[in-house]
Amino acid sequence: MTPSRKFARRSLLLFDIVLGVAATSSMATAQSMHDAASYAVIPRPTVLSPAAGHFTLSRRTIVVADSALSAVAHRFVRDIADATGYDVPVMRTAATGASAIRLIRVAGRDTVALGAEGYRLDVTPRGVTVRAAHPAGAYYALETFKQLLPAAVFRDAPLPGTVWTAASVHIEDAPRFVWRGAHLDVSRHFMPKEFVKKYIDQIARHKMNRFHWHLTEDQGWRIEIKKYPRLTDLSSCRDQTMVGRYVADPAKQVFDSTKHCGYYTQDDVREIVAYAAERYITVVPEIEMPGHAQAAVSAYPQLGVRPDTTVGVMQVWGVSKFIMNADDATIAFMQDVLTEVMALFPSPYIHIGGDEADKTFWKSSGLIQARIKELGLKDEHELQSWFIRQMDTFLTAHGRRLVGWDEILEGGLAENATVMSWRGVAGGIAAAKANHDVVMAPGSHTYFDHYQSLNKNAEPLAIGGFLPIDTVYSFDPVPAELTAAEAKHVLGAQAQVWTEYIQNPKQVEYMLQPRLSALAEALWTKKARKDFPDFMRRIPAHLDRLRAMDVNFRPIEQAKIRP
Ligand code: ACM
Repeated sequence: MTPSRKFARRSLLLFDIVLGVAATSSMATAQSMHDAASYAVIPRPTVLSPAAGHFTLSRRTIVVADSALSAVAHRFVRDIADATGYDVPVMRTAATGASAIRLIRVAGRDTVALGAEGYRLDVTPRGVTVRAAHPAGAYYALETFKQLLPAAVFRDAPLPGTVWTAASVHIEDAPRFVWRGAHLDVSRHFMPKEFVKKYIDQIARHKMNRFHWHLTEDQGWRIEIKKYPRLTDLSSCRDQTMVGRYVADPAKQVFDSTKHCGYYTQDDVREIVAYAAERYITVVPEIEMPGHAQAAVSAYPQLGVRPDTTVGVMQVWGVSKFIMNADDATIAFMQDVLTEVMALFPSPYIHIGGDEADKTFWKSSGLIQARIKELGLKDEHELQSWFIRQMDTFLTAHGRRLVGWDEILEGGLAENATVMSWRGVAGGIAAAKANHDVVMAPGSHTYFDHYQSLNKNAEPLAIGGFLPIDTVYSFDPVPAELTAAEAKHVLGAQAQVWTEYIQNPKQVEYMLQPRLSALAEALWTKKARKDFPDFMRRIPAHLDRLRAMDVNFRPIEQAKIRP
């Protein structure tokens, strides 16, 4: 440990004591100027050493950036322009004494120490210094810096009278996991492009770096595929949607008699991907196969097992029986779709779904049973594995990696597959033990479509479950069953926002926040630094930021989480 880091840790301890019990003389100055809210950074940094005094951002402030970090500098300046009304210039050099925010790209040993996403941040009355080895680290440093400023910095219009002070501090920081994500189902309910950007903003504000875009479902196909226009011409609309909680008995189902439509053009997709990339977020697209595919089968019946049966886009929740077949032509069709998807999404990871493929029609189909024999397979599970393997080989040949929900383990895991573990963590454990990478997404800790309170009657209708913010916070993506070597396969985790019962952006935000803040800390912050009571002391200041961003969230003080 270098002397400065040692010092940093010691002052941090002192600060914790100041906050928790009583003032000590060495921190009295900092304490008299700053309260806990001054350092309410979420997710909690590795080292945070408060100091006396503050920096003031003003009309005279400039940003001085090494060329490798100039894109980050420009992004920052644009991010704060609406709130401050300042047109902060970005320069390569500046005279000493200028009120500057300096972005310095470190080299040599520091590159290893800081890694791809780490940073150091020093705020003093004389200026702000960011050190990072890569642009993402500098970006995260400036996200932290914004959290040291008044929450109004997150507004899209000036708040007259705001003084832009940031408390002096030394911060050293880097994430625990490389995959820190949030998923959004835009298939059950379509979400407008502008909201998708706002969702990405919320991911970015939490130093998260993966947006998993769930684009196809039984209930709607939402991405333009040029070669197969019927996917959106026909299947981006369902004629009506069931109202209220799902009931299986058709006689008891009630519908809204309203069309629900929407899809993203390829231009829309490019715009979203570029928007995310500027914020160091990779967009991981998901194209479901062979199940959750009724919308695709509806547009192109030859993809299905019963091509003579007309089936529309699904209007009720639950899982359709209209699974794809496993013909060579269907494999080629889905690979064509993936070819267009790869051209749109630079993500190394492409998600092919693979969950909840209802095998009923496969069991009763003579053609499918003949196909199983022809391929020398044992059963329908092995046929699903064979299907997924065709996609794995194809994506791998194109330099990409397949991700699938944990059902892809059944019948044998494709060679290069990464497993997204949603039915608990067991699938993730099995995959890691088999030397496959894993993203944890267990319902128990990451399904944000579940209720936030046991007082369910006081909450908007949700699919079920109970996932309060403290449970989210407690999540450790690395199960105790894994050895240190196996644990390296756990890339991280992500939030799931399934939208059967979430009809619009406001409701998405209500379910997302502030649980996303808790998950962000569970994924970024080192295990030894996680502290739920401390998080709860920082959250009021963070909720002010969400308000400034005009984000709808579930008030944590409202109603009781547990009766
Ligand atoms: C899932 O919830 N079916 C992945």
